[in-house]
Amino acid sequence: MNWSHWIRQTHRWVSVIFIITVVAATFAAVTGQGEESFLYYLPLPPLFLQMLTGIYLFVLPYVVRWRAVRRAS
Ligand code: HEM
Repeated sequence: MNWSHWIRQTHRWVSVIFIITVVAATFAAVTGQGEESFLYYLPLPPLFLQMLTGIYLFVLPYVVRWRAVRRAS
């Protein structure tokens, strides 16, 4: 099982869900839903998932390099 592959796929597909929730929240704002509308908070869970998987993808190349240096010495 290749974790990096699945985390990258998760990041890619959650980005689509995130965009849909942002459109829904914007629609709610433009059409004047009440301030307590749940639609405003809909982007937060996918954004949090994007943050976690994104930090993993950011750190990944440094970890790969660090492991290669350790293996070589
Ligand atoms: C919230 C914090 C986020 C962080 C820290 C983050 C970080 C990253 C990193 C490090 C990569 C890999 C770049 C590479 O290939 O070297 C990446 C790829 C990507 N990010 Fe994010 N990201 C975040 C949020 C988002 C959001 C909100 C979206 C979309 C709305 C998004 C969409 C994408 C897409 C489509 C890719 C390419 C994935 C692929 O290779 O298939 N990211 N991100």
